[in-house]
Amino acid sequence: MTTTALIVAAGKGERVGGLPKQYRLLFGKPVLRRAVEALACHPAIASVRVVVGAGQHELAQEALSGIDVGGLIEGGAERADSVRAGLARLDGDAVLVHDAARPFCPSEVIDRLLAPLEFFDGAAPVLAIGDTLARASDRLEEPVDRRGMVRVQTPQAFRLDALRAAYDRWTGDAPTDETTVARAAGLSVAAVEGDAALEKITTPADFKRAEDWLESRLAARTGIGFDVHAFAGDGPVMLGGIAIPHSRGLAGHSDADVVLHALTDALLGAAGLGDIGMHFQPSDPRWKGASSHLFLAHSADLIRERGGIIDNVDCTIICEEPKVGPHRLEMRRRVAAILGLDEGRVSIKATTTEGLGFTGRREGIAAQAVANIRLENK
Ligand code: CTP
Ligand code: MG
Repeated sequence: MTTTALIVAAGKGERVGGLPKQYRLLFGKPVLRRAVEALACHPAIASVRVVVGAGQHELAQEALSGIDVGGLIEGGAERADSVRAGLARLDGDAVLVHDAARPFCPSEVIDRLLAPLEFFDGAAPVLAIGDTLARASDRLEEPVDRRGMVRVQTPQAFRLDALRAAYDRWTGDAPTDETTVARAAGLSVAAVEGDAALEKITTPADFKRAEDWLESRLAARTGIGFDVHAFAGDGPVMLGGIAIPHSRGLAGHSDADVVLHALTDALLGAAGLGDIGMHFQPSDPRWKGASSHLFLAHSADLIRERGGIIDNVDCTIICEEPKVGPHRLEMRRRVAAILGLDEGRVSIKATTTEGLGFTGRREGIAAQAVANIRLENK
């Protein structure tokens, strides 16, 4: 059985407002990208197709950069129009129709959905209702018996031919999911256990809930960095992203900014992503002659692309000269700006080695750094 996932992302997200919710970032990653990745990583899903709204192509391309979705499909005014447009473009035996507004899909749910397709035309994830149900306007009207009632989520799995035929026969108002259409056409739809992680983002409060859920899955990690450059030639000295006037400069391929190099290594280390030499080879044209703030910004991007958070960084500069104290606040401000952090999350300190060792002999400058981040545990 060949199964394709069809993700509908053509809505305007009016109840959230602003940029359509599927293109908004959830901890550095667009909601749509999370929905696509969650389905694409399941071994039974052969391909993922995405339906986007008119005028949303650029937003979608940016959100999905590097992921092959076989070209975007343009949707319509209602969700059902978008599903129809997608179904018309699919091949294969089975389809999983999914809302882009549900960014988290546990792979066990997909297992549970595909298993019944041997005996049923379709399957949908459902959750029992825990609260009391009642009709209401501005006041409560009569209660509704919740026994036998469920909430129906997506993704919903169907045999492709059966779902297409059901949509062809549908004459009612815009349905909000496929089970509505399928049941009207008399298809058999299995109810499998849904998952709280599949909750749809519908209102601004749902974004907060999704962020809290993601945050609860992050684990704290620490990285350490160290760097040294020798004095050579004339000043100024680049430290912490600023030029400090000094009689001597520092030797190095780049601008020899030990502070930014140590911080970059600390961030890469915290994320388990190797070291500065691996990422920024002087032979790579992208980084040739690049100033060090690009290294630091790139390592922060790598963490955020992985859904991570940078909590704080701390750096100690070790040298007899130049005097660091008068420049500390400016360095802190600069590093915070490069990392996109509040200044309170950045610390820059300095010390001498009381005349001992190479820094004591004024041969060069050293820097040590620590970074605390949070990253999803894989
Ligand atoms: N959808 C779609 N085409 C539409 C309307 C909705 O593909 N014409 C998609 C949405 O992008 C979303 C899913 O269907 O992934 C569920 O719809 P909903 O939560 O209602 O999203 P929106 O319609 O975007 O939001 P709103 O109703 O608040 O405007
Ligand atoms: Mg809608």
